Amino acid sequence: MAAVITVDGPSGSGKGTICQLLARELDWHLLDSGALYRLTALAARHHGVELDDVEALEVLAAHLDVRFKPRKDGETQIILEGEEVTHAIRNERVGEDASVIAALAPVRSALLSRQRDFAGEPGLVADGRDMGTVVFPEAELKIYLDASAEERAQRRYKQLISKDPGASLDDILNDIKARDARDMNRAVAPLKPAPDAVRLDTTSMTIDEVLQSVLDEARH
Ligand code: CDP
Repeated sequence: MAAVITVDGPSGSGKGTICQLLARELDWHLLDSGALYRLTALAARHHGVELDDVEALEVLAAHLDVRFKPRKDGETQIILEGEEVTHAIRNERVGEDASVIAALAPVRSALLSRQRDFAGEPGLVADGRDMGTVVFPEAELKIYLDASAEERAQRRYKQLISKDPGASLDDILNDIKARDARDMNRAVAPLKPAPDAVRLDTTSMTIDEVLQSVLDEARH
Protein backbone atom coordinates (compact mmCIF):
# COMPACT_ATOMS: atom_id res chain seq x y z
CA MET A 1 0.00 0.00 0.00
CA ALA A 2 1.14 3.57 -0.67
CA ALA A 3 2.34 5.63 2.30
CA VAL A 4 -0.31 7.12 4.60
CA ILE A 5 -0.11 9.76 7.33
CA THR A 6 -3.22 9.91 9.48
CA VAL A 7 -4.21 13.05 11.39
CA ASP A 8 -7.04 12.68 13.90
CA GLY A 9 -8.43 14.96 16.56
CA PRO A 10 -11.47 16.92 17.73
CA SER A 11 -13.22 19.88 16.10
CA GLY A 12 -11.02 22.96 15.89
CA SER A 13 -7.76 21.15 16.65
CA GLY A 14 -6.35 22.49 13.37
CA LYS A 15 -6.43 19.17 11.50
CA GLY A 16 -8.01 20.57 8.35
CA THR A 17 -5.46 23.34 7.89
CA ILE A 18 -2.50 21.15 8.83
CA CYS A 19 -3.58 18.35 6.49
CA GLN A 20 -3.97 20.74 3.55
CA LEU A 21 -0.53 22.26 4.16
CA LEU A 22 1.06 18.86 4.71
CA ALA A 23 -0.43 17.38 1.53
CA ARG A 24 0.75 20.42 -0.44
CA GLU A 25 4.25 20.30 1.08
CA LEU A 26 4.68 16.57 0.39
CA ASP A 27 2.67 16.69 -2.88
CA TRP A 28 0.50 13.83 -1.61
CA HIS A 29 -3.22 13.12 -1.96
CA LEU A 30 -5.58 14.46 0.70
CA LEU A 31 -8.62 12.79 2.24
CA ASP A 32 -10.99 15.10 4.13
CA SER A 33 -13.10 12.32 5.66
CA GLY A 34 -15.30 14.79 7.56
CA ALA A 35 -16.46 16.10 4.16
CA LEU A 36 -17.91 12.64 3.38
CA TYR A 37 -19.98 12.71 6.59
CA ARG A 38 -21.01 16.27 5.84
CA LEU A 39 -21.95 15.30 2.25
CA THR A 40 -24.07 12.42 3.52
CA ALA A 41 -25.82 14.80 5.93
CA LEU A 42 -26.46 17.33 3.14
CA ALA A 43 -27.71 14.61 0.76
CA ALA A 44 -30.12 13.49 3.51
CA ARG A 45 -31.46 17.01 3.78
CA HIS A 46 -31.82 17.31 -0.02
CA HIS A 47 -33.70 14.00 -0.21
CA GLY A 48 -35.85 14.60 2.86
CA VAL A 49 -34.27 11.68 4.74
CA GLU A 50 -34.62 11.90 8.54
CA LEU A 51 -31.46 11.57 10.65
CA ASP A 52 -32.83 8.47 12.41
CA ASP A 53 -33.70 6.61 9.18
CA VAL A 54 -30.62 4.39 9.34
CA GLU A 55 -31.39 2.26 6.29
CA ALA A 56 -31.99 5.24 4.01
CA LEU A 57 -28.85 6.97 5.35
CA GLU A 58 -26.79 3.85 4.67
CA VAL A 59 -28.04 3.77 1.06
CA LEU A 60 -27.25 7.49 0.64
CA ALA A 61 -23.72 7.03 2.05
CA ALA A 62 -23.03 3.97 -0.12
CA HIS A 63 -24.17 5.73 -3.31
CA LEU A 64 -22.98 9.29 -2.72
CA ASP A 65 -22.63 10.87 -6.16
CA VAL A 66 -19.72 13.17 -5.37
CA ARG A 67 -16.76 14.54 -7.27
CA PHE A 68 -13.73 16.29 -5.79
CA LYS A 69 -12.30 18.63 -8.43
CA PRO A 70 -8.89 20.15 -7.63
CA ARG A 71 -8.70 23.78 -8.72
CA LYS A 72 -5.61 25.65 -9.89
CA ASP A 73 -5.52 27.75 -6.68
CA GLY A 74 -5.03 24.56 -4.62
CA GLU A 75 -8.63 24.49 -3.31
CA THR A 76 -10.88 21.52 -4.03
CA GLN A 77 -14.31 22.03 -5.50
CA ILE A 78 -16.93 19.57 -4.22
CA ILE A 79 -19.81 18.57 -6.49
CA LEU A 80 -22.75 16.59 -5.04
CA GLU A 81 -25.25 15.22 -7.56
CA GLY A 82 -24.09 17.80 -10.10
CA GLU A 83 -24.42 20.75 -7.69
CA GLU A 84 -21.46 22.68 -6.25
CA VAL A 85 -21.58 22.33 -2.45
CA THR A 86 -18.01 23.35 -1.53
CA HIS A 87 -19.24 26.03 0.89
CA ALA A 88 -22.70 24.61 1.69
CA ILE A 89 -21.21 21.57 3.49
CA ARG A 90 -19.20 23.84 5.87
CA ASN A 91 -22.37 25.23 7.43
CA GLU A 92 -22.59 24.66 11.25
CA ARG A 93 -25.96 22.92 10.90
CA VAL A 94 -24.53 20.45 8.37
CA GLY A 95 -21.60 19.80 10.76
CA GLU A 96 -24.05 19.10 13.55
CA ASP A 97 -26.08 16.68 11.37
CA ALA A 98 -22.83 15.05 10.21
CA SER A 99 -21.83 14.32 13.79
CA VAL A 100 -25.26 12.74 14.47
CA ILE A 101 -25.13 10.38 11.47
CA ALA A 102 -21.43 9.63 12.10
CA ALA A 103 -22.55 7.73 15.21
CA LEU A 104 -24.39 5.18 13.01
CA ALA A 105 -22.34 2.02 12.31
CA PRO A 106 -23.96 1.27 8.90
CA VAL A 107 -23.16 4.79 7.67
CA ARG A 108 -19.54 4.45 8.79
CA SER A 109 -19.20 1.05 7.07
CA ALA A 110 -20.75 2.39 3.87
CA LEU A 111 -18.08 5.12 3.73
CA LEU A 112 -15.12 2.87 4.56
CA SER A 113 -14.06 1.63 1.11
CA ARG A 114 -14.59 5.08 -0.40
CA GLN A 115 -12.13 6.49 2.13
CA ARG A 116 -9.55 3.75 1.49
CA ASP A 117 -9.79 4.43 -2.26
CA PHE A 118 -8.10 7.80 -1.67
CA ALA A 119 -4.80 6.03 -0.88
CA GLY A 120 -2.38 6.14 -3.81
CA GLU A 121 1.14 6.96 -4.91
CA PRO A 122 3.11 8.81 -3.73
CA GLY A 123 1.09 8.95 -0.50
CA LEU A 124 -2.03 10.11 1.34
CA VAL A 125 -2.67 12.54 4.18
CA ALA A 126 -5.90 11.40 5.87
CA ASP A 127 -7.81 13.88 8.06
CA GLY A 128 -10.52 12.68 10.46
CA ARG A 129 -11.54 11.12 13.73
CA ASP A 130 -10.78 7.42 13.13
CA MET A 131 -8.14 7.51 10.40
CA GLY A 132 -5.44 5.91 12.57
CA THR A 133 -7.73 3.63 14.57
CA VAL A 134 -10.11 2.21 11.92
CA VAL A 135 -9.60 3.36 8.34
CA PHE A 136 -5.80 3.14 8.01
CA PRO A 137 -4.60 1.12 11.02
CA GLU A 138 -1.39 0.23 9.14
CA ALA A 139 -0.39 3.87 8.48
CA GLU A 140 3.34 4.62 8.86
CA LEU A 141 2.72 7.79 10.83
CA LYS A 142 -0.27 8.64 13.00
CA ILE A 143 -0.76 12.08 14.49
CA TYR A 144 -3.35 13.08 17.09
CA LEU A 145 -3.90 16.83 17.37
CA ASP A 146 -5.63 18.30 20.38
CA ALA A 147 -6.15 21.68 22.06
CA SER A 148 -8.25 22.92 24.97
CA ALA A 149 -11.97 23.33 24.21
CA GLU A 150 -11.65 27.08 24.98
CA GLU A 151 -8.83 27.54 22.48
CA ARG A 152 -10.69 25.55 19.82
CA ALA A 153 -13.81 27.66 20.37
CA GLN A 154 -11.71 30.84 19.99
CA ARG A 155 -10.30 29.58 16.68
CA ARG A 156 -13.77 28.78 15.33
CA TYR A 157 -15.08 32.15 16.56
CA LYS A 158 -12.32 34.00 14.68
CA GLN A 159 -13.21 32.09 11.49
CA LEU A 160 -16.93 32.79 11.84
CA ILE A 161 -17.08 36.37 13.08
CA SER A 162 -16.25 37.93 9.68
CA LYS A 163 -19.16 36.05 8.05
CA ASP A 164 -21.54 36.19 11.00
CA PRO A 165 -21.18 39.28 13.23
CA GLY A 166 -23.79 37.77 15.60
CA ALA A 167 -21.64 34.71 16.38
CA SER A 168 -21.36 34.01 20.11
CA LEU A 169 -18.23 32.56 21.70
CA ASP A 170 -20.32 30.90 24.44
CA ASP A 171 -22.58 29.18 21.90
CA ILE A 172 -19.56 27.98 19.93
CA LEU A 173 -17.90 26.62 23.09
CA ASN A 174 -21.09 24.76 24.00
CA ASP A 175 -21.36 23.33 20.47
CA ILE A 176 -17.73 22.18 20.58
CA LYS A 177 -18.27 20.47 23.93
CA ALA A 178 -21.44 18.77 22.66
CA ARG A 179 -19.67 17.62 19.48
CA ASP A 180 -16.69 16.31 21.53
CA ALA A 181 -19.03 14.37 23.82
CA ARG A 182 -20.85 12.83 20.84
CA ASP A 183 -17.62 11.98 18.96
CA MET A 184 -15.84 10.54 22.02
CA ASN A 185 -18.71 8.61 23.59
CA ARG A 186 -20.28 6.95 20.56
CA ALA A 187 -20.20 3.16 20.43
CA VAL A 188 -18.61 2.90 16.98
CA ALA A 189 -15.20 4.35 16.13
CA PRO A 190 -15.13 6.82 19.05
CA LEU A 191 -12.65 9.67 18.75
CA LYS A 192 -9.45 8.62 20.52
CA PRO A 193 -5.75 8.52 19.71
CA ALA A 194 -4.44 5.28 18.16
CA PRO A 195 -2.09 3.59 20.68
CA ASP A 196 0.86 4.33 18.38
CA ALA A 197 -0.13 7.94 17.57
CA VAL A 198 2.17 10.91 18.14
CA ARG A 199 0.10 13.32 20.26
CA LEU A 200 0.45 17.07 19.89
CA ASP A 201 -1.28 19.61 22.11
CA THR A 202 -1.61 22.65 19.83
CA THR A 203 -3.22 24.98 22.42
CA SER A 204 -0.30 27.40 22.38
CA MET A 205 1.30 26.44 19.06
CA THR A 206 1.06 28.35 15.79
CA ILE A 207 -0.02 26.55 12.59
CA ASP A 208 3.55 26.79 11.36
CA GLU A 209 4.94 25.19 14.52
CA VAL A 210 2.46 22.32 14.25
CA LEU A 211 3.29 21.82 10.57
CA GLN A 212 7.02 21.74 11.32
CA SER A 213 6.53 19.19 14.12
CA VAL A 214 4.50 16.91 11.85
CA LEU A 215 7.01 17.27 8.99
CA ASP A 216 9.84 16.43 11.42
CA GLU A 217 7.98 13.25 12.40
CA ALA A 218 7.31 12.42 8.72
CA ARG A 219 10.98 12.83 7.79
CA HIS A 220 12.23 10.88 10.81
O1 CDP B 1 -14.90 20.74 11.05
P1 CDP B 1 -15.05 19.73 12.12
O2 CDP B 1 -13.74 19.23 12.67
O3 CDP B 1 -16.00 20.11 13.18
O4 CDP B 1 -15.76 18.49 11.47
P2 CDP B 1 -15.41 17.58 10.23
O5 CDP B 1 -14.02 17.03 10.32
O6 CDP B 1 -15.79 18.24 8.97
O7 CDP B 1 -16.42 16.35 10.51
C1 CDP B 1 -17.80 16.55 10.75
C2 CDP B 1 -18.30 15.47 11.70
O8 CDP B 1 -18.16 14.19 11.07
C3 CDP B 1 -17.51 15.35 13.01
O9 CDP B 1 -18.08 16.08 14.06
C4 CDP B 1 -17.56 13.87 13.33
O10 CDP B 1 -18.68 13.57 14.12
C5 CDP B 1 -17.76 13.20 12.00
N1 CDP B 1 -16.56 12.52 11.51
C6 CDP B 1 -16.34 11.22 11.93
O11 CDP B 1 -17.11 10.70 12.73
N2 CDP B 1 -15.28 10.51 11.45
C7 CDP B 1 -14.43 11.08 10.59
N3 CDP B 1 -13.40 10.36 10.13
C8 CDP B 1 -14.60 12.41 10.18
C9 CDP B 1 -15.68 13.12 10.67
